[in-house]
Amino acid sequence: MTAEPVVTVEPVVGVIGGGQLARMLAEAASPLGVHLRVLASPSDEGAAAVVADTVLGDHSDAATLDAFADSVDVITFDHENVDHGLLSALEARGVAVRPSVATLLYSDKAHQRRRFAEAGIPVPEFLVLDPTGDPDRPAGAATCAADAVAFAERHGGVAVVKASRGGYDGRGVWMLPASDIGAFVETWTGAPLVLEPRLELSLELAVLAARTPSGEVATWPLLETVQVDGMCDEVLLPAAVPAELEVRARALGARVAEEVGAQGVIAVELFVVSGSDEPDDAHGADATGPRLFVNEIAPRVHNSGHLTIEASATSQFEQHLRAVLDWPLGPTHSVSPGAVMANVVGTDAQEPRRRQARALAEVPGAHVHLYGKTPREGRKVGHVTVLGDDRDRARRDANRAADILAGRPSEMTGSTS
Ligand SMILES: Nc1ncnc2c1ncn2[C@@H]1O[C@H](COP(=O)(O)OP(=O)(O)OP(=O)(O)O)[C@@H](O)[C@H]1O
Ligand SMILES: [Mg+2]
Repeated sequence: MTAEPVVTVEPVVGVIGGGQLARMLAEAASPLGVHLRVLASPSDEGAAAVVADTVLGDHSDAATLDAFADSVDVITFDHENVDHGLLSALEARGVAVRPSVATLLYSDKAHQRRRFAEAGIPVPEFLVLDPTGDPDRPAGAATCAADAVAFAERHGGVAVVKASRGGYDGRGVWMLPASDIGAFVETWTGAPLVLEPRLELSLELAVLAARTPSGEVATWPLLETVQVDGMCDEVLLPAAVPAELEVRARALGARVAEEVGAQGVIAVELFVVSGSDEPDDAHGADATGPRLFVNEIAPRVHNSGHLTIEASATSQFEQHLRAVLDWPLGPTHSVSPGAVMANVVGTDAQEPRRRQARALAEVPGAHVHLYGKTPREGRKVGHVTVLGDDRDRARRDANRAADILAGRPSEMTGSTS
């Protein structure tokens, strides 16, 4: 850890936030000869233990952020919860903030939905409600509650309610019946809410894309994601979809990257809905074949792309560094016919490292990534990637290793997942 910036001739990429994404960016920076400097808050875990040039400081303090910006060539992010006003001030004085504040605004689900719908990008039908009062759209909590009940009743008696900001890993997403939704909305005190119909999802996909400030865009082969309780549990490559759907999905991902003006990597989460009774074509859905909807985007490296470290010609972390430095992008093809990533999710307070030898003994081909975070119930503390010709087998192996690391009871009794 250093208090003073290190003098260097290497390009210096400054990362705001010191979690596992900063840690994995650092792992990619070293062979590229890129100097990574991290601004971490004291409570951040993941990066500080392995990134030599970690500056401890509060990114919400203008003087701290200014000094950090002056010590790097470009600023990028481990997380997007950074004050946009402070970042705009940096942009105004010529600091390279990548992605830009205009792109970071898309971290807000209400902003995303509105802008994508305006641009003709297919999104689920939605309703934005602000029960605490939005000066531009004055509506009392009771009116919002009535609107929410009507929306749920129109959509089979249930609606998905999402906090527009601050949610992650399914925290901030609720599926509510019409009987409960009114009270929920009326007593809500947080950021505006986004309501959607509950869709019958046949699959969830992710398109990982990268875009440089010069406008070069690359997408990786399509990824299939598996959520448990709203949280990403597994990522599978290749996605089990027809080639035609993969082409459509990647084109949609690239279009979204352009639309949001991405600089660096962006993850575009997609819903696949089959059947003809699902939402209308007003949002641009294709009338034939499975329909694709953009669920949400993350304007940064993302959990769905962790398997690119081992499975792709260029990992999302290397690509992000190349992109924010406006260097040419690397090839994105897969170097393995199949790959599966399984998250290691905390089940108890025990360090997964204590179980690592057993996991590696049982799955020697497991690529284990542990983030050095204090384990807590439901917290992502690492991931495992397994490559192979056979996706099903890689899936079994990745889950077996992840379950052992997490200390999942099913694994303690020796059953496979
Ligand atoms: N309208 C919907 N219909 C059916 N399932 C949904 C719907 N919206 C969300 N889900 C389910 O909940 C999951 C989490 O939703 P979403 O991606 O909006 O929340 P999040 O907490 O921001 O996610 P992340 O874990 O990516 O941060 C989705 O991946 C999907 O499995
Ligand atoms: Mg999501």
